[in-house]
Amino acid sequence: MSANLATASYIGAIILFILSLGGLSNPETARRGNLFGMLGMGLAVLATVFGPRVTAAGIPWIVAAMVIGGGVGLYASKVVKMTQMPELVALMHSLVGLAACLVGFASYIDTSHPLTGAEKTIHELEIYIGILIGAVTFTGSLIAFGKLNGKIGGKPLLLPARHWLNLAGLLTVIWFGREFVNAPSIQAGMIPLVVMTVIALLFGVHMVMAIGGADMPVVISMLNSYSGWAAAATGFMLSNDLLIVVGALVGSSGAILSYIMCRAMNRNFFSVIAGGFGSGAGKPAAKGDAAQPAGEVAPISALETAELLKEAKSVIIVPGYGMAVAQAQHTVFEITKHLREKGVNIRFGIHPVAGRMPGHMNVLLAEAKVPYDIVMEMDELNDDFPATDVAMVIGANDIVNPSAQDDPGSPIAGMPVLEVWKAKTSIVMKRSMASGYAGVDNPLFYKENNRMLFGDAKKMLDEVLVVLKT
Ligand code: TAP
Repeated sequence: MSANLATASYIGAIILFILSLGGLSNPETARRGNLFGMLGMGLAVLATVFGPRVTAAGIPWIVAAMVIGGGVGLYASKVVKMTQMPELVALMHSLVGLAACLVGFASYIDTSHPLTGAEKTIHELEIYIGILIGAVTFTGSLIAFGKLNGKIGGKPLLLPARHWLNLAGLLTVIWFGREFVNAPSIQAGMIPLVVMTVIALLFGVHMVMAIGGADMPVVISMLNSYSGWAAAATGFMLSNDLLIVVGALVGSSGAILSYIMCRAMNRNFFSVIAGGFGSGAGKPAAKGDAAQPAGEVAPISALETAELLKEAKSVIIVPGYGMAVAQAQHTVFEITKHLREKGVNIRFGIHPVAGRMPGHMNVLLAEAKVPYDIVMEMDELNDDFPATDVAMVIGANDIVNPSAQDDPGSPIAGMPVLEVWKAKTSIVMKRSMASGYAGVDNPLFYKENNRMLFGDAKKMLDEVLVVLKT
């Protein structure tokens, strides 16, 4: 492939990636957006492999790497369950970070294109910054992976003088950067480079460990952004324009997502990154811990739930992580269809951080073919709860917790929540009294107009559907 054709293919791929992002911003066009992304990536890989910078001797290596990587990807797509998607995404971010580090080191020891003067300094800075971002992304994403699958508890690790530690790390990294750029030889430059890499790896661990369970959504989107910047840095090191543009697209869209997540949780981005939010007032923070009983709860049966739904004129369903665990979305759709046919005004209230990844609930509801026009954002229907007969909470907990409004000491204080308790009756569907991801007790359960439908969401909803249909 000639250099001109490769450049034209790169431009085509960039356009496809931009169209892909545009498509993904709306559920109705998301499928098309995905297709554009796949085409763009296919074109990018072909243009790179058959482009002018790859020699014939390199092709078998690339093919071998693609077979191994593709094989692992194919295997993962078969075995990873939908509920494990957030962890998988975190692992993938970590691989982007690792790749940036490896490319950085390889690029530094590669002497095939000797550079001098300003060009050399710029290239070394690209390497230094690329490895820095890559190393933070690598370990940060691994810790996020552990926190998402519950292997690492949600409680933030707050080291004494942690801000000073971070500052000392930053100053050391800047000082070693100077040493690195001024190093007289590759061997001499290796020492500051390795020291910086170790500091960056430790910083990645420290940064994510210090963030409480409730603030994890911000971390997820931030690491997404970092992985983009790591890819862009790799593009600079390899002088690959496509990688720079794609990395910048991912980096900036991740940054916008982080901003949206912060706004959704009423948090200041820098405070979240500095850590300490989510520490709470000594409440249990590990996933699924049993909350301390704080009153009497009123249980309800599937039969009674169905009766309430039959009599309701307006219903709001609030799905959460438990709906994903139970894979109850298809039954939810059947119930929705049935009630709509009976003339009930039924809508879905989606909290921006519901589930374990951005857009988690939207994906599940779209998969079950729930019409998009009845799926609303939290802000769009929070005022409608007082005029709602039944608010049905399916496997959600933190996002409907009134203590976010009432208890300034709560780890989720200040986070906007769906005010389901303002409906005539709220029904919470979950298996036990266990707390949600943030590890906070939920006073909603003890409210007078609240009922608890205990059991697996899918099983309970199947029973409700049977009664509704008879
Ligand atoms: P959570 O607060 O985690 O609550 C989910 C509830 O679902 C649990 O209390 C659990 O109670 C219940 N559940 C689990 N399996 C179930 C099943 N099979 N059937 C019925 N119920 C089941 O979820 P949420 O309300 O969606 O809030 C999201 C939380 O995750 C927030 O704290 C958010 O900050 C955090 N988070 C979000 C993200 C993103 S990006 N969205 C990323 C990381 C963390 P039982 O065990 O009693 O059933």
